[in-house]
Amino acid sequence: MEQTYIMIKPDAVQRGLMGEIISRVEKRGLKIAAMRLGVMSEESAKEHYKEHAERPFFASLIEYVTSGPSVSMVVEGKNSIAIMRAVNGATNPVDALPGTIRGDLAIETGRNVVHASDSTESAQREIAIHFKDSDIVNYSKIDEVCLYE
Ligand code: GTP
Ligand code: MG
Repeated sequence: MEQTYIMIKPDAVQRGLMGEIISRVEKRGLKIAAMRLGVMSEESAKEHYKEHAERPFFASLIEYVTSGPSVSMVVEGKNSIAIMRAVNGATNPVDALPGTIRGDLAIETGRNVVHASDSTESAQREIAIHFKDSDIVNYSKIDEVCLYE
């Protein structure tokens, strides 16, 4: 089943939104295959966001995501990459629709509470940055018989 990498960013942890965000992932029907709370190292953050290395906001982005504990997850399910991008909503919360995480819970691009991988290649690359193979748990959930045709 398709896997994606999700981060609950440090602002969301500080605001007590971990449960709310995890709950939305679970209710949608996606399965959490790995999960860890910790402060992301500067090295991991720079590798994670390396596509943005030349952008003017890069230094503040790295400072933001390493500023305190965040939650890293591997989330699994059919089309999980596209589904989690839609669940998170537009990068700038001003453009994010109500009903999305950013549309309901965020104000500014620089404090937009969540991350989700944007492609199969990104998902594989990001999961490998943040998790070892042995951290990812392979299990079935009983609701899969209801969720999938
Ligand atoms: P991620 O899921 O975090 O990767 O967001 P995204 O894929 O919706 O957006 P993108 O990869 O383009 O940008 C990565 C992150 O950089 C965003 O989520 C923001 O936190 C931050 N970011 C992007 N553009 C800006 C900007 O113009 N200003 C600031 N301050 N931060 C930005
Ligand atoms: Mg991105």
